[in-house]
This record gives sequence, C-alpha cells and structure tokens, in this order.
Amino acid sequence: MPASRQIVHHASDAIISADQSNVIVMANPAAAALFDTSVEQMVGSPLGRYIEAADGDAGEPAGYFRAGSGRAGRRATDYAVTGLRSDGRRFPIEGSISRTNEGAPFYTVIMRDVSERRRVQEKLTRSHDQLRQLSAALQTIREEERTHIARELHDDLGQLLASLRMDLALLQQAAGTPPDSLHLMRGMDANLLTAIASLRRIASNLRPRALDEGGLYFALQGLRDDFVERYGIPCTLLADEAELRLDDAASTAIFRIVQEALTNIARHADATSVHMNLFRLNHELLITIRDNGRGIHPGDMEKAESLGLVGMRERVWAMHGDIGIGPDDEGGTRIDVVLPLEGHLVQA
Ligand SMILES: Nc1ncnc2c1ncn2[C@@H]1O[C@H](COP(=O)(O)OP(=O)(O)OP(=O)(O)O)[C@@H](O)[C@H]1O
Ligand SMILES: [Mg+2]
Repeated sequence: MPASRQIVHHASDAIISADQSNVIVMANPAAAALFDTSVEQMVGSPLGRYIEAADGDAGEPAGYFRAGSGRAGRRATDYAVTGLRSDGRRFPIEGSISRTNEGAPFYTVIMRDVSERRRVQEKLTRSHDQLRQLSAALQTIREEERTHIARELHDDLGQLLASLRMDLALLQQAAGTPPDSLHLMRGMDANLLTAIASLRRIASNLRPRALDEGGLYFALQGLRDDFVERYGIPCTLLADEAELRLDDAASTAIFRIVQEALTNIARHADATSVHMNLFRLNHELLITIRDNGRGIHPGDMEKAESLGLVGMRERVWAMHGDIGIGPDDEGGTRIDVVLPLEGHLVQA
C-alpha cells in the first residue's frame, strides 16, 4: 500500500472518493464505521446512498455539498450535509470536498459526524432560554414585591401616621394643656411629619405610584427631577405624555431602563449634561439617552460583576425590542432603544 493510501486508511476522519458520476471509488474504515457499513459495501455504491442529495439530483459529487447545503466552517469548501446510515437513520455531517484531476476528475470528501456537537449545542440553547425565562420571572416577582411593599407602606403605615397627627392636633387644641406638654406635642408633630415624608420617599423609591396609574411620563419626570436635585447635572426629558400611556409591563420596563441609565451616568460618566428623548414612531417607541461624559468602552460592557446593562438588555429583549449601547459622536455615551408597542398601549 503506498504511503498516502496508508495515511487515508488509518485516518480517524472518514474519507471517501467518488468519480464524476457519483460512484464511490474509495472509502476508508473510518468512513465505513461512520455509515455503519463496510468498506467493501461502500466502494462501487452511489454516493447518494450515504449522503442525502439536496434537491434529488445532485449532478456531480460536489453538488451534494453545494446545492441547498449550509456552509459549515470558515473555508469555502466546508459544508453541512445529512448522512444516511445503512439502517436509514439520518445524521448531521460536516465535511469538506476537494477536487483533483488525475486523468478524469474525482472528488475526495472528508467528513465528521457532528450529532454529538449538535446535541450539546441544542442543550446549551435550551438552558440559555431557560435562564432567560428565569431572569424575566425573577424580575417580575421583584417588581410585584416592590409594588406590594410600597402600597402597604403608603396605605397602612401612611394612614396610621396621618391619623396620629390628627389626634395630636385635637390634643393640642384641648383646653388646659400645660405649656410643657404643648411644647412636647409640637416636637412630636414635627417628628410625625418627618416620618410621613420619609415613608413617602421610601415607598416612591421602591416603586413610584405614577407607574401604577398609567403615568409613565410623570414617573420619568420624577426620576429626572430627583437626578437633577441629587447630582446637580442638568437633564432634559423630551417626551409626550399622551404617547407614554402604556400598560404596566411596558411602563415598568421603560422606567427601570431609564433609571439604570441615569444611575450609571451618576456613577460612571462624569457628565455635565444629559438628554433623554422618548417618542413614538408608528408602533414603536424610540428611546435615546445621551450623556457628554467620559464615554463607555467595549470592555466596560463585559465586566463579570456588572449586571445593570445586562438587565437593561434583557428587559428590552423580553419585549422583542432592540438596544444599542455605545459611544456617542460627541464623546459621551449613548443608549438607543426601540420597543414595539403593540399590545402595550392604554386607551385614554
Ligand atoms: N454612561 C456611562 N458612561 C461611562 N461609562 C459607563 C456608563 N454606563 C456604564 N458605564 C460603564 O459600563 C460598566 C457596566 O455598567 P453596568 O451598569 O452594567 O454595571 P455597573 O454600573 O458597574 O454595576 P451595576 O451592576 O450595579 O449596574 C460600568 O462599570 C461603567 O464602567
Ligand atoms: Mg449600573
């Protein structure tokens, strides 16, 4: 056996050669094993018995690897095709084909069974999808809990504090209260007022009430005002109240996206101005948030411990939207979001 034949014979990849009329003229033991048959069986058989032709008639051998088959690898000669085992079972193959001219042209095909890889890929995709669903479910639960706690704080505790204040006012008005007690009561009233204010702030930080009343616009205004007050960075909000009457899911998602964007600007950007635009175009909402800070770098978005941008993306994808995060033309950072609004519009 010549050296080159020996190499083919012992190769762990399946190798077959076919002539121009699709008849197999050579197959190595690995090829026979791949198709669950013997070398003797393969040699002399038509190529179509082992490899599914894309459109019935594949013409010359190269046709099996071109017509209708997908590109598999980086090289132009790599293709994904379907193999046929002797018992008729089909399985995915990746292979490359090369043509040699030794008198008559003939074709050599090197193949690999990729069933296992496909299975692993499918498993990975499935587990990735499940993680996505889990993360969306967790976000929903978290939001529901926040809503619940905010409401309890506001309705229960808030009411209680308000009624305590009223009782205290009655006591203060009662005749014959000694001046010392009156002084104490005034102090109590001031404390009660402070408690009511902090309770409102805490509840609103958990979840602004406006969100539950279809008032995304007002909730965003509140966010903007807080941002300007806290960090002293001018921030414009360009939006139309009527365009932002959206259901709870969309309002919450948009609010949280904008909130994370503003938090990031405060923490990382070192910006001196921020612009937020939200406007509707047909059935989509376009959101742009720009700052003039130090800009974001590709590596910033890959930090393992950073979850803000990841969460932002997940929210957008969960709504079948698109998001782009990157440097702005003027050096800062720019976030562009497109959200389809079908099914999220609330009638006035
Ligand atoms: N507006 C911005 N300007 C400059 N850099 C930014 C901006 N927004 C984000 N970055 C960079 O991108 C990184 C990732 O942001 P991301 O919100 O995902 O995480 P984080 O803010 O660091 O942490 P967290 O998980 O608490 O949000 C930040 O650490 C920061 O370096
Ligand atoms: Mg962040």
